[in-house]
Amino acid sequence: MNLKGRNFLKLLDFKTEEISYLIDFAKILKSEKKAGIKHKLCEGKNIVLLFEKTSTRTRCAFEVAGKDLGLGVTYLEPTTSQMGDKESIEDTAKVLGRMYDGIEYRGFSQDTVEKIAKYAGVPVWNGLTDEFHPTQILADFLTIQEQLGKLKGVNFVYMGDARFNMGNSLMVGCAKMGINFTACTNKKYFPKKELIDTCLEIAKETGAKICFEEDVEKATKNADVIYTDIWVSMGESKEIWQERIKDLLPYQVNKKVMDNAKKDAIFMHCLPAFHDRETTIGKEIGEKYNLNGLEVTDEVFRSSQSVVFEQAENRMHTIKAVMASTL
Ligand code: CP
Ligand code: NVA
Repeated sequence: MNLKGRNFLKLLDFKTEEISYLIDFAKILKSEKKAGIKHKLCEGKNIVLLFEKTSTRTRCAFEVAGKDLGLGVTYLEPTTSQMGDKESIEDTAKVLGRMYDGIEYRGFSQDTVEKIAKYAGVPVWNGLTDEFHPTQILADFLTIQEQLGKLKGVNFVYMGDARFNMGNSLMVGCAKMGINFTACTNKKYFPKKELIDTCLEIAKETGAKICFEEDVEKATKNADVIYTDIWVSMGESKEIWQERIKDLLPYQVNKKVMDNAKKDAIFMHCLPAFHDRETTIGKEIGEKYNLNGLEVTDEVFRSSQSVVFEQAENRMHTIKAVMASTL
């Protein structure tokens, strides 16, 4: 498998066997790291991390993975770079491409990361846009494989806002890997028709079932995985909390939902999560609407079925596989 020089912008650009390869490679890198075996596979190269939105996991995963691979790492946030205000995306990409061997970008529009990739001349990795979050999906699939021993044929249910980055990317990833995907939510939050049609085409090849269901009991029956994400994403206005709570509270992941799924079903979340009042927003919204958890209850989040911190760790191993393969 040769992925040298490739960008990692969305899973739609990758074949099933390429995605499998990245997950398998991450598994090897993870076991090497646990055994204390060094893998400075990219020594002498440099990467830049360009963030227009905040991050804990993605930034740290790129930094630690980069250092483990022997890379020099620069972190740039919007306030400390010229991009946007004084310099165009095209010019910024051309400058960074002259200095660095790879570029990570987190921001708003998928068009921006595609544009950076067009002009940089070096591999570009998508660290989240409004449309897609592809490195997260690799970590999620590695976690499912570790927990359930397989991907193909797994019944995967996504609850909540299914038309933003997480819902979109998980639907694409499931279609590619033969995982049965159900978006269980209010129909206002189903992904766009065009993306659904693309996924249905892919699913014909892989055998995945792609379904949309508003009835929680029906959707979560026989689920192996219940996945959710926050209801108001980065870049969205705080004003929409009220509407989201009204629309999505019926799709909260709680004990009743988990009990309706398979006995050994796992709970997944990309994080950060609102599962208690221990955050500024969690406290403010919790007090206003008299809720202790939003998209997931604290009980489920902390239960033995929850694998959210395994997912978080796997961000690092899978991002390392992406960088080592493409650089
Ligand atoms: N899951 C994820 O992307 O987390 P961060 O926003 O902390 O990077
Ligand atoms: N949908 C969330 C994902 C965070 C990792 C957001 O975009 O804020």
